[in-house]
Amino acid sequence: MTRDGQGLEVSNAGAEAIASLDFLRDEWLSFGNRLAEFVAAADKEASCALLPVMAANLMLSMSSDEGRDAARKYLARAKALAAGANAREQAWLATTTAWIEGDTDRCLKIHEDMANEWPRDLLAGKLGQLHAFNCGDAEALLRIGERLFAANQDNRYAHAMYAFGLEECNRLDEAETIARAALAIDRRDPWAHHAVAHCLEARGRMLEGVAFLESMSDTWEGCNSFMYTHNWWHLALFLIDLDRTDEALALFDKRVWGVWKEFCEDQINAVSLLARLELRGVDVGNRWADVAQYLKPRLHEHFVPFLDLQYLYGLARAGEQSVTEMLASLEDKAENAKPFEREAWADCTVPAAHGLAAYAKGDHAEAARLLGQAMPHLSKIGGSIAQRSLFGAIHLDALMKSGWNDAALKILQADDRERPTVPWTKRSLSDLYRRVGRMEQALAAEYQAEQLSRQYARGRAT
Ligand SMILES: [Fe+2]
Repeated sequence: MTRDGQGLEVSNAGAEAIASLDFLRDEWLSFGNRLAEFVAAADKEASCALLPVMAANLMLSMSSDEGRDAARKYLARAKALAAGANAREQAWLATTTAWIEGDTDRCLKIHEDMANEWPRDLLAGKLGQLHAFNCGDAEALLRIGERLFAANQDNRYAHAMYAFGLEECNRLDEAETIARAALAIDRRDPWAHHAVAHCLEARGRMLEGVAFLESMSDTWEGCNSFMYTHNWWHLALFLIDLDRTDEALALFDKRVWGVWKEFCEDQINAVSLLARLELRGVDVGNRWADVAQYLKPRLHEHFVPFLDLQYLYGLARAGEQSVTEMLASLEDKAENAKPFEREAWADCTVPAAHGLAAYAKGDHAEAARLLGQAMPHLSKIGGSIAQRSLFGAIHLDALMKSGWNDAALKILQADDRERPTVPWTKRSLSDLYRRVGRMEQALAAEYQAEQLSRQYARGRAT
């Protein structure tokens, strides 16, 4: 029996098939931009089922109708080559079938079993973490990361995957230590950069975040569009919280939007960044119209609720009439949702989508009411803590603009406890304290905001 570079048995594989699988593992885990070379190899492969299986997974990871159609074809080819497939390969076939059918709860279960049985299969772990991420299951994300890390102690990719799981479970110190250990093995690891960025973001360590990501950005040139635009997106978030919104907008134009406008991940980075800039009072000009052009084909996709909500918001901010059609389509999806995904679609996505549409039109009281309904279920829609915080920020803004001072104050005070370093939070607190007549606290928050701004101006000068 032939084995791949991780020592895993591969059925019906010649030297070229093994080389292709090893190439895919490194390229996927390093977020490289040469994945098309693997697809070309899979297209030519005539005996090893794992190649078309992996191509199917690659296509499904695009979260698009075209991707799913292509995956069906690759899966059919894989099944035709599956005689003699071993247990691990059977598990890959089963999870790919389940993904095509939309049974992502089953995918996650299979990948957790695979991480226990074959923890050297790093791509099985990677895809398992993707399913956990899309289902909003941070504990599963971490469990898979732990198994991979235990069985691949010398592997930087396993470090970075473990670190991200730790971060999403709010074990920030451990996450940062493990991510930095990955970089000690090899500094060119964008997923480890990403995990460090999340840790710094969660603690409001913005100056460090900017310095760290800038110092690593020379290594992102060979990255695929998701990783490239997403790490720059993280840098933009730090800049926004440092009140350097002009630089964040410049990053939107130069780095975040424009690499691969048809790709869902690029699109949500763009929507999220424009929305966050607007929340800080930035005029983003006609940028929504450009982004929305690429969102229009996605009205009925419904792969991951977290993606859909951002598509909808982008369309709504561009004033697209198709928002109404997408809202109706989301309601249909929620009605027909499978039991495991009902909370995500029905309890969160539908009210949140209506709330976002109301907010985009300036109906802040309605937005606050509807987003308030969705918030308790927010983690179920998928995405990371930092990504989902966009919806919390819009909800907060709607509360402030519609005069729900007590509710807004509670959220801002919690934000300030978690990230006491953000001048904007202090200024908003000051404004709210003033509104409710708590002048002493208003002046104290205003003073703290000024102190922080001065500190950041000094940090920038040095
Ligand atoms: Fe991220």
